[in-house]
Amino acid sequence: MNIGLFATLIFAFSSVSVASSSSYDASKESALALQGIFQNINSPGVRRGALIASPSTSAPNYFYHWTRDAALTMGTLIELGPNPLVNNAVRNWADFELVAQSNAAKAQGVAEPKFEVNGQVFAGPWGRPQNDGPAIRSWTYLRAFGELSPLVQTDLEYLKNHWADTTFDLWEEVRGHHFFTTYAQMVSFRTAAAVAQRVGSSAAADYSRIADQIESALGSFIDTGRSTVLPTLGGAQNLKAAGLDISVILAVVYFGPSRQWSVSQSYILSTALRMEQSFIPIYPINSAFANLAPGIGRYPEDVYDGTGFSGGHPWFLATFGMGEFYCALAQDLSARGQVNFDQVNFSFYKFNAPELQTIGINQLNSRDPQFWALLGHLRDKGESFISRALVHAGADRRYSEQFDRNTGYRRGARDLTWSYASSLRAFQRCAQTDQILRQFWRH
Ligand code: NOJ
Ligand code: NOJ
Repeated sequence: MNIGLFATLIFAFSSVSVASSSSYDASKESALALQGIFQNINSPGVRRGALIASPSTSAPNYFYHWTRDAALTMGTLIELGPNPLVNNAVRNWADFELVAQSNAAKAQGVAEPKFEVNGQVFAGPWGRPQNDGPAIRSWTYLRAFGELSPLVQTDLEYLKNHWADTTFDLWEEVRGHHFFTTYAQMVSFRTAAAVAQRVGSSAAADYSRIADQIESALGSFIDTGRSTVLPTLGGAQNLKAAGLDISVILAVVYFGPSRQWSVSQSYILSTALRMEQSFIPIYPINSAFANLAPGIGRYPEDVYDGTGFSGGHPWFLATFGMGEFYCALAQDLSARGQVNFDQVNFSFYKFNAPELQTIGINQLNSRDPQFWALLGHLRDKGESFISRALVHAGADRRYSEQFDRNTGYRRGARDLTWSYASSLRAFQRCAQTDQILRQFWRH
């Protein structure tokens, strides 16, 4: 398929014009990202509906279907809006998942993270179970089809019995209770409750009660002493001494606001600031192009280099994820029409808008020009993370998993589906934010 077709799709998808003050062309970049995703959907020799994580078959071998990567990518596509090409891909994905889920149920269990491209379970040793898988899969299906299908019911039945258990995290390394996984489960039950209510299913009350229980468990991840949201609780939490992980930011960005959480929640803001500050010094490449926001990794103590364990590097999906976060934050605040400063979030705002006149002020509202100036800064910051990722992506925009902390070149699995999806999300989100801010400035 050629790039022209994807460019047309993006044009058709966008309810807003993507004209942007940024240094990149969001329409063109989005089309390239879509092309990257579709190449991994239509990979030769795989069962229909399989979505390979990467075409790389050695060093590392990512030629598998991961439940998480696939569901997050499908979720990204459905957020673009209905379109025949996407609808078909999502239908095929759902058919594949039904086969994979039933194979897994007969083997290691429903929360098996990784499958052969023919839908068989991956039989080797692995960090399993990973309970974010059934959560993101069912949530994605519910949003795509709005039905409590057998696929969804099996996932929810499993999660109902296991949401409070320890599980491997999204990075497949640590067994414990994880903010990302817990959030994913909460949003799946919340969405299932809404669907059940709409179709008149008696399961609605049950789903909604479980969502409430899970949401209240999320509160225990707040570390008031360090003003952060911890990624993991349980035995393994000390592996990450700084208590920081991009998965916390990705959770609120990907899964959206809940009753207690959103991208503008104070502890989330404080976590985002600490994340950024911790990655500036540890990756030498961040002092090149120092006018751009820094490359972001999974967590500061990471040593996975894409094939072995020689030390961590920035990741495309983490850097684009921060870009998306900032643009989502500007959007969130514009919808609220005000920003409240408190002791937990104050350093975040001050860092991002040093010229803010905040002495004696604890709130800014949308009648104040400073409010819109602040939102403009946040949007610019989001675009700066995107520009950072683009600098290291190469002119052909073939996103790998990581970029080298010393040289800035791509490394790790090539053409990583999740990297493409994360770029597409960031381009689309920042383009929408840009549009909202332009509307204001036009007045
Ligand atoms: C591969 C996993 O997918 C990655 O997240 C992890 O860091 C390494 N294996 C090491 O466990
Ligand atoms: C390693 C990442 O840590 C994990 O999150 C991902 O699912 C796999 N690679 C496949 O992309």
